[in-house]
Amino acid sequence: MELSVNVDHVATVREARGGTQPDPVYAAMIAEMAGAAGIVCHLREDRRHINDRDVRLLREVVKTRLNLEMAATEEMVRIARDVLPDVVTLVPERRQERTTEGGLNVVEHRHSLREVVEILHKADIQVSLFVEPVLEQLEAAADIGADIVELHTGHYANATSERAAQQELYRLHNAAEFARRLGLRVAAGHGLTYENILPICRIPAIEHVSIGHAIVGRALFVGFERAVRQMLELIRYGRLLPPLELR
Ligand code: PXP
Repeated sequence: MELSVNVDHVATVREARGGTQPDPVYAAMIAEMAGAAGIVCHLREDRRHINDRDVRLLREVVKTRLNLEMAATEEMVRIARDVLPDVVTLVPERRQERTTEGGLNVVEHRHSLREVVEILHKADIQVSLFVEPVLEQLEAAADIGADIVELHTGHYANATSERAAQQELYRLHNAAEFARRLGLRVAAGHGLTYENILPICRIPAIEHVSIGHAIVGRALFVGFERAVRQMLELIRYGRLLPPLELR
């Protein structure tokens, strides 16, 4: 299982003072040196953390894989075609939300999303859709030509009991298997931490995780490189645990 590191919250700290430091571009370089397989950043309409300069520079320095998270708007599609990230992850975006709160409704927005997928494919950009682990959404994602689905792990991460977490884990497991059978590559992310990552590693169909907040938070105390390495060690260990059975 590969790890992509989301550097948005390095930019959040920078924006707290409106200056130039800390720089998410440095964080990306350190994350790659520590073994991350990719770098993720979310260019929001309101530019609350990552800005246009960050995306441009990240494109220049990232040597692994740059994944640009964005809403499926005309402005963002234009930027993606200009910057050419390796992957675009389409996410829903609401101005008032603190972070991405739910998955994309691919079923409802099938036609407009299909167009965006086609435009990005013409630019040779792979497209990932951030969706809830719901079978109809995965079917729609495959139907409109997505390459990857990123399963929203927020409900798992926010579960308030062991039982609820187990249920969410099985929902993710079933969804991941289903998506793989549809020919999609499967990633997962949102709210994953050092404390809750191990069970996710027991889902064989999840090839990739995207983690930001927990790594940036730990980096304050142990440094960025160590924070990335510690997550990678957990992922390696988690992959050695017995895989979950389907239920
Ligand atoms: N994946 C997607 C699609 C996201 O929107 C986010 C949050 O920006 C993440 C992964 C990373 O979530 P977290 O910061 O909670 O690790």
